[in-house]
Amino acid sequence: MRLKDRVVIITGGGGDIGTATSLVFAREGAIVVVTDSRADMAERTAKLIRDGGGRVTSFGLDVLDEAAVERTFDAVFERFGCPDILVNLAGDTVIKKSVDMSVEEFDRILRLNVTGQFITARSVARRMLTRGQGGAIINIGSILGYGGTPRRAGYTSSRGAIINLTKTLAVEWALDGIRVNCVAPGWTMTKALRAAVESGGLNVDALIERTPMGRLPEVEDIANAVLFLASDESSMITGHTIPIDGGVTAYMGIGGKPSHA
Ligand SMILES: NC(=O)c1ccc[n+]([C@@H]2O[C@H](COP(=O)([O-])OP(=O)(O)OC[C@H]3O[C@@H](n4cnc5c(N)ncnc54)[C@H](O)[C@@H]3O)[C@@H](O)[C@H]2O)c1
Repeated sequence: MRLKDRVVIITGGGGDIGTATSLVFAREGAIVVVTDSRADMAERTAKLIRDGGGRVTSFGLDVLDEAAVERTFDAVFERFGCPDILVNLAGDTVIKKSVDMSVEEFDRILRLNVTGQFITARSVARRMLTRGQGGAIINIGSILGYGGTPRRAGYTSSRGAIINLTKTLAVEWALDGIRVNCVAPGWTMTKALRAAVESGGLNVDALIERTPMGRLPEVEDIANAVLFLASDESSMITGHTIPIDGGVTAYMGIGGKPSHA
């Protein structure tokens, strides 16, 4: 058990990647605090862990509500002690042509995907700094943080920003033993992606063809990378963003299908 008795807070823990990550952390012996703005979804994940014999609690928590973040993290502190690990998975997107996107829509995504991660990281780091035993923070990015993609101006901007926020927090807290890293998933086989494929809104074959490894990431692929960055096995890694994409961001070849020749 790589995370035995470690206290882990997960935001967006009711989502697809959040559920898979929470389950992996519970399996590795962590005390898992599942949070999500949808309390019912957080509790749904918690129930899966509880039913499997894991240690877990859940909270409804909007990461943009600073007072609620403080209250929730205080409650975690009182019940389990200082959090050892924070996993920031809460996030969203708006898919719209830039000429039709309102400033409010653009700002909402930046605020959730960047400021939201800053609020929770700052709050947990204050507690970790007071305790003086370090910790690990894992942010969520995306391969769309490395390049442009039509109709996703707010999303790609936010994912680009989180790569640099991760570096800044990492170097600021490095001497205190708090490591800050980020995972950047490629198009991942979540329920939302499957629904988009089924409705004809997404050409999954084109995505697979553009992926050197010939398949899209599963939620467990993302969860396992988060686990690595949370565990002592990555104790010398900080400030980095790791693409979990089967080689998509490494590929600069011409045409869709990478050559195996
Ligand atoms: N699925 C992919 O292909 C993919 C690729 C790259 C990055 N990501 C990012 O990974 C994260 C998880 O993805 P997913 O597919 O599991 O998405 P998801 O929509 O299933 O999960 C996101 C969760 O965040 C919660 N959330 C939304 N706003 C919140 C707020 N203000 N406070 C707290 N929680 C809030 C939602 O209720 C939801 O449960 C997201 O940030 C997503 O943008 C996903």
